[in-house]
Formats: sequence, C-alpha cells, structure tokens
Amino acid sequence: MLQITDLTKRFKDLTAVDRISFQVNPGEIFGFLGPNGAGKTTTINCICGLLKPDSGAITIDGQDVVAGGDQVRKMLGVVPQEVALYEEFNAIENLQFWGGLYGLKRSQLKSRVDTLLELTGLKDRAKDAVSTYSGGMKRRLNMAAGMIHQPKLLLLDEPTVGIDPQARHQMLDTVRHVAGQGTTILYTTHYMDEAETLCDRIAIIDHGRILAMGIQTEIQQIVGENRLLKVTGAFEKSTAESLPQKMKDLVLLSIQENEVLYSLPIKQTTGAFLEILMKSGFEIDHLAIKEPSLDSVFIKLTGRELRD
Ligand SMILES: Nc1ncnc2c1ncn2[C@@H]1O[C@H](COP(=O)(O)OP(=O)(O)OP(=O)(O)O)[C@@H](O)[C@H]1O
Ligand SMILES: [Mg+2]
Repeated sequence: MLQITDLTKRFKDLTAVDRISFQVNPGEIFGFLGPNGAGKTTTINCICGLLKPDSGAITIDGQDVVAGGDQVRKMLGVVPQEVALYEEFNAIENLQFWGGLYGLKRSQLKSRVDTLLELTGLKDRAKDAVSTYSGGMKRRLNMAAGMIHQPKLLLLDEPTVGIDPQARHQMLDTVRHVAGQGTTILYTTHYMDEAETLCDRIAIIDHGRILAMGIQTEIQQIVGENRLLKVTGAFEKSTAESLPQKMKDLVLLSIQENEVLYSLPIKQTTGAFLEILMKSGFEIDHLAIKEPSLDSVFIKLTGRELRD
C-alpha cells in the first residue's frame, strides 16, 4: 500500500529524516514510535506532499506521491498533530469545509458527515461551535476531518496528545474501528503502550533513523528475556565494569557520568544484583528496573528513555 524507500529530508544542516525505508501493508495499523524531534511529523509531511523530500521515493499503490498529483493524494487522509479546525464553526460546518476541499458532492458529503459524527460520537454536539468542545472532542473531529473523503490510507500524527485517559481509549477504539473497515493506518506516537496495544507492526525511530522494525515479539527479541537495570549514583568506572565478572549473565550496556545500564536475564533475581552492587562500593541514588518491553528496547538501542 505505502512504500517508502531511502527517504531523506534535511532542514539546512539538520537531517530530520535519514534514509528511512518501510512499507505499510493493506489493512495494517503500522506504528511509528519515537520521542520528540525523532522525525515522525517530517515523514508524514513528506508522504502527504507538504514537504518535498531531498531524496528517496514514496509510492502509494505503486504510484509516486510527488509526481502522482491529485489522484494519489485523494487516496490519502491526514490527521495533523496540531488540531486544524475552525473554532467558531460547528462540527458539521467544519466537516463540510474539508469535504468541499476534496470536491465531494452534496449528497455524498451529507452521508459522510452523518457517518463520521456517529463514528466519533459527536452527533449530540454537532451543532455547537468547536470552541465549546473538550480537547478529546476536538481531536475526534480533527480525525473525522482527515477521513471525510474516505481515504484508503490514513496518516495519524500523535492523535492522543494532551487528552485524558478516557478520551484516549475512545480515540484508540475509533482507530481500531476504522482499521477494521479496511483503512490502512500509519499511526505515530511517543506512547509505547499505544504502539503495543494498537499496532500490527512497529518501527522505532530516533534522530531520523529507524532503529528497529517488526511485529512486537520480533522487536522485543532485541532485549530478549532480559530486564534492564539502570543505576544512578556515584561510582568508579572500573567498579561498574567489574560487576559482570561477579554475576553470571549480567551485561554492561553503557556507562555515563553518574549512570550505568546493565541487562540481566529475568530468571536471575534483582535482589542478588543489588547485593553485589552494594558490596562493590556503589553509592546508589536510584535503581530503575525495566521489564522486557518496547520501552526497554528503546533504552537499549539509544541509552535513554522514550520520554525523558
Ligand atoms: N520546518 C522546519 N525547519 C527546521 N527544522 C525542522 C522543521 N520541522 C522540523 N524540524 C526539525 O526536524 C526534527 C524532526 O522534527 P519532527 O517534527 O519531524 O519530529 P517529531 O518526531 O514529529 O517530534 P514530536 O514528537 O515533537 O512531534 C526536529 O529536530 C525538528 O526541530
Ligand atoms: Mg511531530
């Protein structure tokens, strides 16, 4: 469905997207997981033609996005990270506006508006000005606007940022529903739990590069059946380096100024680790234990957390 090959986008000296390649298969929810500034929005903006790539190819159903023009762009819906709605207009008027831009006919537009108000649970408030909506309602209307023309491929850019947990659940259910009806979805997020529960396949992106990609169990194999142990405090570098000799299967991953990162198989107890840590003369301020998860994959790949 969507095929991206060696996509690169630079802003002056900064390479925001650095030779990334991935494909999203028909009907799939593909998760694009990465922290602030990873290059998620830049990638989306290249796909929908808002930005011109420096190099690489983007095709939808085999047609080039840059050269393909309107025909290709009509297959595509975008739900931008920043809500793009007219606050003084109501939901119906906003949807009519976006439908008009896509050239929907009157009768077609009316039925689409009805369907989407139903889908997003905004029917009761459809005639109230958007300025009176909650953050979650605005997000849902924003999503409806991106789908007004029934795109085959929907690009969702962090659609749950800044909304409460209940509204977030509703949003995720809506995304699942839309995917269930056959729409292919590229879903960007910095919440690993969303990527875990929602997405069929995931790419982890940071500093414009894809660090890992696959179904969840494949990505998890990067950390395997290992916990990550992050110790913060005061210690000698040589002490930190010597610990793996004192404990079987303990692996040193990285050392920074006051922080050292180890991995340890889950069958080994963290109590035993703590004991040798204290005996060795570590002054521990903090010990963080991460069970195997996408988050621990990210830490292992980058040495830092998804959200810091
Ligand atoms: N128009 C621009 N001009 C210059 N630099 C830009 C521009 N747009 C993005 N950048 C930079 O490119 C990098 C990637 O930004 P991008 O918005 O794609 O990240 P993101 O993954 O969407 O992050 P966030 O989670 O904060 O939305 C960042 O370093 C950002 O500052
Ligand atoms: Mg972004």
